[in-house]
Amino acid sequence: MKEIVFATHNAHKASEIRNILGDSVKVKTLTDINLFEEIPENGNTFEENSFLKADFVRARVSDFTMCIADDSGLMVEALDGAPGVFSARYAGEPADDKRNVAKLLDNLKGVENRRAKFVTVITALINDKSYSFRGEIEGVIIDECRGTNGFGYDPVFVPDGYDLTFAQLPSEVKNSISHRARAIRKFVDFINNL
Ligand code: IMP
Repeated sequence: MKEIVFATHNAHKASEIRNILGDSVKVKTLTDINLFEEIPENGNTFEENSFLKADFVRARVSDFTMCIADDSGLMVEALDGAPGVFSARYAGEPADDKRNVAKLLDNLKGVENRRAKFVTVITALINDKSYSFRGEIEGVIIDECRGTNGFGYDPVFVPDGYDLTFAQLPSEVKNSISHRARAIRKFVDFINNL
């Protein structure tokens, strides 16, 4: 059976990937392999950050194990792509979803162009090769919070083709169209064809 180490402690992310992968691949998290060191994440792009995380883990597991890592964020057109790779800590340390959303709405006050997209990049390292898979979903940022599901910027993001925010949509709907789901599906197609 193929085995993958996913560079996350987040059980939700791990189960999202397991659900799409099925039983043919075993996915272990950092918690499963007892790796609790802090992973550097100081790249300028989602590709760089996901590579850095996967590479950090690769150095600590066997050569023959596939390592994957993801990095995600929100890119707002009128803010030249911000908060981007700084999405988690947009309003400073410690990371705080409510303060991040408040800062975003503040920065978009009076701004007409509300276009934005969520992006996820998954990097997979297999032996000495690196592969990356990008998923995106486009939409708009509304000017107030709506809904209680999800996390992060979900209450202010309405995906194209819907009238509800990610935080109002049922989680099954968000999880079937999200940037993360799209990147995961690309990765799963790749690994199933290896
Ligand atoms: P991560 O790389 O998946 O940890 O995401 C970094 C940050 O981007 C999160 O802390 C959120 O602020 C934002 N983000 C990523 N994905 C989502 C999402 O699906 N909904 C809302 N915010 C998200």
